[in-house]
Amino acid sequence: MKAVLSKSVGGPETLAVEDRPDPAPGAGEVLLSVKACGVNYPDVLMIQDLYQFKPERPFSPGGEVSGVVEALGEGVTHLKVGQRVIGSTGWGGMAEKLNVAAARVIPIPDQMPFDEAAAFIMTYGTSHYALKQRAALKPGETLLVLGAAGGVGLAAVELGKAAGARVIAAASTQEKVDLAIRHGADAGVVYPAGPFDKDGAKALAGLFKEACGPDGADVIYDAVGGDYAEAALRSIAWEGRFLVIGFPAGIPKIPLNLTLLKGCQIVGVFWGAFTARDPKANQENIRELMELYVAGKIRPHVSERFPLAKAGDAIAWLGSRKAMGKVVVTMD
Ligand SMILES: NC(=O)c1ccc[n+]([C@@H]2O[C@H](COP(=O)([O-])OP(=O)(O)OC[C@H]3O[C@@H](n4cnc5c(N)ncnc54)[C@H](OP(=O)(O)O)[C@@H]3O)[C@@H](O)[C@H]2O)c1
Repeated sequence: MKAVLSKSVGGPETLAVEDRPDPAPGAGEVLLSVKACGVNYPDVLMIQDLYQFKPERPFSPGGEVSGVVEALGEGVTHLKVGQRVIGSTGWGGMAEKLNVAAARVIPIPDQMPFDEAAAFIMTYGTSHYALKQRAALKPGETLLVLGAAGGVGLAAVELGKAAGARVIAAASTQEKVDLAIRHGADAGVVYPAGPFDKDGAKALAGLFKEACGPDGADVIYDAVGGDYAEAALRSIAWEGRFLVIGFPAGIPKIPLNLTLLKGCQIVGVFWGAFTARDPKANQENIRELMELYVAGKIRPHVSERFPLAKAGDAIAWLGSRKAMGKVVVTMD
């Protein structure tokens, strides 16, 4: 089988496509014939050793795949050969075949194409957990989403709308904001690309305040970080919840007096740890997400498809801040 390999620390240009022996499933695993692999920001970080998980090299990037079950390992009884599934792997997905722990394999509905399936679980899983378990978002509340046209951001826009919130999409270009509005956002705000000096940060805070209105945002979904975080926090509502999702623009430092003045909470979100610590609640979340998908209320926006041989370009595209919605690597 062919696999994309990270053999040394570095950017997408360090990745190589090589032939590897086909894997055989161990006990409790299934072998998947991979059809597509979703690209996520953690892939950008992992190949540079900048992510919280540092797999031993050589490894294939790619944390989520769709495909067909090719073989069952010992003790796996709830899945069938030939079944269409999603697999959550953390890494290893940019390969033609892959073993996945059976507990991390989810059957998909017939009407879900493989590219959408590969773009589904990490973004919607993260955003659903964030809005439901961590923020307890309620109908009628205002939700401000930063990076609203990115993978997790666009999922948060759709899920916020499905939950009955008023959604304000914030992104760095009008094209990105327009995409978020097509996916359900009620209003949008274009912010500059940064970095920001003191006056720039003040102007950015003013932009967010104007977009959220005098009552502010009850929930802020921050998938961007950097200087955007504090500027957005300044527009939070009394007793609002600020969700810490990710830091493509850098890890921010927040003056804690803001939390006192706003009576607000800063809430960490670590979806991967949640799935391991509370698999039952995660299964219920996934069931709800599949229901929303089948009802047509959520749908991944796959904007770019790259073949396996160009998987490095797919990761570079995400790292360049140009990606909209989801980028997927396909096997054929
Ligand atoms: N907490 C969790 O459990 C969890 C789970 C999955 C992902 N994440 C994190 O969530 C973040 C977003 O992941 P994603 O897969 O949705 O990524 P993505 O599709 O690339 O979206 C990230 C967005 O960040 C913005 N951005 C700002 N500065 C950037 C920069 N220097 N380079 C690239 N993008 C920049 C871009 O929007 P604008 O141009 O509009 O600003 C972009 O759309 C990452 O930090 C990832 O690690 C966290």
